[in-house]
Amino acid sequence: MVVTSATPRATLTVDPAFRVGAVDPRVFGSFAEHMGRCIYTGIYEPDHPSADDRGYRRDVLELVRELGPTVVRYPGGNFVSGYRWEDGIGPLTERPRRLDLAWRAIEPNEFGVDEFMAWCALARAEPMMAVNLGTRGVAEAAELLEYCNHPEGTRLSDLRRTHGAKEPYDVRLWCLGNELDGPWQIGHKTAYEYGRIAAETARAMRRVDPRVELVACGSSNPTMPTFASWEATVLEECYDVVDHVSLHTYVDPSHRSVGDYLASAEVLGRAIDAVVATADHVGARLKTRKRLGVSVDEWNVWYQSRFGGEHTLDWTERRHLIEDVYDVTDAVVVGSLLITLLRHADRVNIACQAQLVNVIAPILTEPGGRAWRQTIFHPFAQAAATAGGVVLRVEPEVATYEAEPVGEVPLLHATAVHDDATSSLTLLAVNRRTEGPLELDVDLRAFPGHRVAEATVLTHDELRTCNTADRPSEVVPRALRQVELTEGRLHAVLPPVSWTVVRITPSPTSPEIR
Ligand code: AHR
Repeated sequence: MVVTSATPRATLTVDPAFRVGAVDPRVFGSFAEHMGRCIYTGIYEPDHPSADDRGYRRDVLELVRELGPTVVRYPGGNFVSGYRWEDGIGPLTERPRRLDLAWRAIEPNEFGVDEFMAWCALARAEPMMAVNLGTRGVAEAAELLEYCNHPEGTRLSDLRRTHGAKEPYDVRLWCLGNELDGPWQIGHKTAYEYGRIAAETARAMRRVDPRVELVACGSSNPTMPTFASWEATVLEECYDVVDHVSLHTYVDPSHRSVGDYLASAEVLGRAIDAVVATADHVGARLKTRKRLGVSVDEWNVWYQSRFGGEHTLDWTERRHLIEDVYDVTDAVVVGSLLITLLRHADRVNIACQAQLVNVIAPILTEPGGRAWRQTIFHPFAQAAATAGGVVLRVEPEVATYEAEPVGEVPLLHATAVHDDATSSLTLLAVNRRTEGPLELDVDLRAFPGHRVAEATVLTHDELRTCNTADRPSEVVPRALRQVELTEGRLHAVLPPVSWTVVRITPSPTSPEIR
């Protein structure tokens, strides 16, 4: 990549003394909803050639393990607000077919709680369950928790044992409903109505199992007219009985310039700041030292304006629904969203990319056929694999540009994660510049005797390039050639519109590891 005197330069300093917070591994979560083909012909397809004896697609499972989600949220999403969890347990032949009002689909109930728990164990992911506070309430939530977590000796815990799970599932993470601020939600509520039912459900659930971690529904999008006031009213009612408040954020690339789109993570960052400020305001009013975490339990790129809405759907099973195909820029934006989540490591302790398979997902499948990695698979997999440890505060000095709707944003978006145990450092960086490369100059004098162990970049000359079943590896991370670390300074050249990961480790000759 040709660098000239006109090439902008970003400088930053990384020092282990300046800590934002430890990365909670649960920020690398995902989401599996009964929607479209996420479950059926996604993770579960008994007739598929790769299916195991429980009907799980082995090809998908392998890709999920490679992707590395630490938690998977289930069963919705909007779906959960009309869901009867009891329909999805017991002998398959006795399970009812039902109307799913959220997505106007037929739900066969072949896959339910027990199938999900067994699949999570195979996927090496922690389950995160949502309860239905749309059409159901306190009793059904407490009963589902009893089914999952009570050891034995009651009707529901013994029923679980009859269904093959002798040991409790011990599910810790529970969402108290889904997006109940949205008029599209079955059982939509006012903030006060929701705050009350969330509080009473939380109290009952804590009686069943005091070890649960509970997430109250925040806003379904920072653009909601009730954003922030919803959180304030809800938390006034349930602050003391919940642990986290949720935030959902989807970014839509349609009808925007590439530069504006590349600044999308700024929208997420400001929304997280606003939710934290609102929660802390309520905490201050309640005169409590308790601080809530933020669970960004739905986030992603979603070409939402291409979706006609639920009303355009008819009663179908396994419908191809919002199966967005992602290009290079989408992958770079996903990388940038991950950087924002990490930069908020002091308060964001759970995050779920929505969704896992087929539905706005990093993995696509053909019914009965192939499964492959979308472009957005790679930044997630790389971050989940390398960004463990403590996030260090980095503030790049670099030129900015004007983007809608956020205003001035820096050309470089970056974070650094330090693993104290191995003294290794991971730099994650996005070059938002569309016109050309960006020089990166990092002061690493706080890491003497370190070397570049690996440096990769995801980009492409043609930003519209996607991965397909026939060409699944068009867009993958490749070695970053222009990178060197000498005398405590890292110098790299980042191609336009790119996602870069640099791993820096103590060199074998370093006194630290001799
Ligand atoms: O992930 C798709 C949908 O987006 C979810 O069902 C809902 O919670 C959100 O609006």
